[in-house]
Amino acid sequence: MSGESPATRAALALGLTALILAAVILVLGDAAYMWIKAAHVVAIISWMAGMLYLPRLFIYHCDAKPGSEFSETLKVMEARLLQVIINPAMVFSWVLGLWLAWHGNFLSAGWFHAKLMFVILLSGFHGYLSASVRRFAGDANTVPVGRWRLLNEVPALLMILIVVLVIVKPF
Ligand code: HEM
Repeated sequence: MSGESPATRAALALGLTALILAAVILVLGDAAYMWIKAAHVVAIISWMAGMLYLPRLFIYHCDAKPGSEFSETLKVMEARLLQVIINPAMVFSWVLGLWLAWHGNFLSAGWFHAKLMFVILLSGFHGYLSASVRRFAGDANTVPVGRWRLLNEVPALLMILIVVLVIVKPF
C-alpha cells in the first residue's frame, strides 16, 4: 500500500467507499440514511483531526534544523498523517456527504449551498497542506512560522461555520 501513488490510493478509497455504501443501502434500505450519516461524521472527525494537527507539525518543523533527526522524523509523521488519515478521510467525507445531500433532498437548500462553499474552501486548504508536506519533505518551506500559526486556525474556523450550518440550518 505504501508504494502506491496518492492517486491510486485515492481511487482505492473511492472504490471501497462506493462498495460499502452500496452494501449498506442494499441491506438496510431506508434505515441506511442514519448509518451513512454516522459514517460521514466519523470520516469528518478523522479528516478534521488531521487538518488541525498537520499545521501544528509544520510549526515544529520550522524550528527543526534541516537534516537533523527531528526534521527527518517530522517528514515521516507529516507524510503518514496525510496519506493514511487525511486523504482517505476526505474522500469518505465527500462521497458519503454527497450521497446524504442527494438522498435527503438537500441539494437545493440554502444552508447546504453555504456549507458546500466552506467545504470547498476546506478542501482547497487540504490541497495547500498537501503541497506543503512535499515542500517540507524537500526542505523547501518558505512560509514563516508566524504565518503557520495563523494558518493553523483556518480549519478550525471553517469547521465551526460548517457545523453550525448543518446543525442549525439557519436558511
Ligand atoms: C465533504 C463534503 C460534505 C458534504 C457534501 C456534506 C453533506 C452533509 C449532509 C447532506 C448531511 C446530512 C444533513 C442532515 O441529515 O440533516 C451532513 C451531515 C453532517 N455533516 Fe456534512 N458534508 C460534508 C462535509 C462536512 C464537514 C467538513 C463537516 C464538519 C467539519 C461536516 C459535518 C457534518 C455533521 C456534524 C453532520 C450531522 C448533522 C446532523 O445530523 O444534524 N460535514 N453532511
